[in-house]
Amino acid sequence: MAVDFNDVQALVRSGFGSLGGARYVLLRIVDATRAKAWLARAEPTRASQVGGAHELRCAMQIAFTRAGLIAAGFDEAELETMAPEFLDGMASDGRRSHRLGDVGESAPEHWNWGVGAREPHALIMLLAKKTMIADWASGIEAAALANGFAPVASFDSCPAREDGDASHEPFGFADGVSQPKIDWNGERSISPSANHDYNPLIAAGEILLGHSNEYGVSAGDANGALVQRNGSYLVYRQLEQDVTGFWQWAAEAAGPENARWMAERVVGRGIDGSPLPGLATSGGRDDFLFKGDPDGIVCPLGSHIRRANPRSGDNPHGRRGFLRDLVSAVGLAGKATDDPVASARFHRILRRGRPYGTTITPELAMLPELPHVEAGLHFLCLNASLARQFEFIQGAWLISPTFGGLSQEDDPLLGSRCPFPDDRRTDLFRYHDAHGVPRIAQDMPRFVTVRGGAYFFLPSITGLMSIASR
Ligand code: HEM
Repeated sequence: MAVDFNDVQALVRSGFGSLGGARYVLLRIVDATRAKAWLARAEPTRASQVGGAHELRCAMQIAFTRAGLIAAGFDEAELETMAPEFLDGMASDGRRSHRLGDVGESAPEHWNWGVGAREPHALIMLLAKKTMIADWASGIEAAALANGFAPVASFDSCPAREDGDASHEPFGFADGVSQPKIDWNGERSISPSANHDYNPLIAAGEILLGHSNEYGVSAGDANGALVQRNGSYLVYRQLEQDVTGFWQWAAEAAGPENARWMAERVVGRGIDGSPLPGLATSGGRDDFLFKGDPDGIVCPLGSHIRRANPRSGDNPHGRRGFLRDLVSAVGLAGKATDDPVASARFHRILRRGRPYGTTITPELAMLPELPHVEAGLHFLCLNASLARQFEFIQGAWLISPTFGGLSQEDDPLLGSRCPFPDDRRTDLFRYHDAHGVPRIAQDMPRFVTVRGGAYFFLPSITGLMSIASR
């Protein structure tokens, strides 16, 4: 069944790259009656307004935490069909924090927002042309504060490059290049045999509740007091980036003239977003697999993009016939890195993040006397299953020190480098140098620190009305 874009918030369909300004307003509900009256009038931008004849100059989106839904008047029993991870919250228990790599400096007790009295109830996302964002966003923020909401935090996103291009993250890399494509009309077959090879197209139910997902089932209660259909779970993490630390490490590890080469191995892409030279493509920026590079000689096995989306990496040989597939699926053949069952298509997310802070070039960042600059990513992503999508990618792929047959490494871009409980180190990074010689970088420093975060529910338009009329 085709998705009704008129009932879906626009962020599901677009990241609004052409709107260079963004503000994220985190709020608590202090007067539920007034807050709900304001929400009933708020009119968030709908997916049906994307790509129309009139170019959108601004877009507003609204999402809620579990605490926000309770503050709006729902009781625990009415929410019990929602995802357990959403109900628990991102920072709810030490085991989850550990799984997500929120340890050491990134542990929730150090966060600026997301826990205790600074746990938000609602997120208002405001995206607009750079010329209008300040006035327009301030007007909406002031209206919310005058109508039953209290402030937790408010963040402006600014493009990470002087040329105003919002599609680069603060380390300087093109960001948002690889995204899943969504089968809005439900036209693709989801049978395993049709999907043995990596395909960027995924079922709408991977992002939207109430639609068929990659297993052919639909998540989200259709009949509860809170309308879940056409809603999505939104992950928000404020990730501070040590830009000078990153580039100074790269310059030290490979020499200043090869720092960019080294940084590109950490990410697994060229700084301009291009695939690393040597990966077979048909010319596009995102049409490569890791089939031809099973040992990570071109693109390191533990690089950020290979961990975040192994593509064919978990099934590097593709489909080889029923019997051979079966033998390898039950673990009787193949290497530890081959896992034809854990296909990448069950673990995709739609990234919607934006950078913040001061922009500096890699050349400047490599100057040893440069003081620390504040910069980072408001990492936002959408998915229908927090456990199977965001938490799996973060925990089993990015943070796990045993990903893809590796050991003692975590994601070279994001990792906490904290030892695992059994004292296993996580601060190595294996790569091959320009001559194909295997190397191990030791004592990788931490480049990214979590400063806050929460799981939100991004309701449909009908869902928002069910909250406002509660
Ligand atoms: C400060 C933190 C981060 C930085 C600087 C960063 C940077 C990047 C860059 C430069 C790319 C390659 C370009 C692209 O395809 O967009 C990328 C890809 C990606 N990142 Fe991150 N990222 C960060 C955090 C995360 C987190 C927390 C996740 C998920 C839990 C994540 C998931 C992904 C995914 C899924 C891809 C696409 C991989 C592919 O399909 O090829 N990233 N990231």
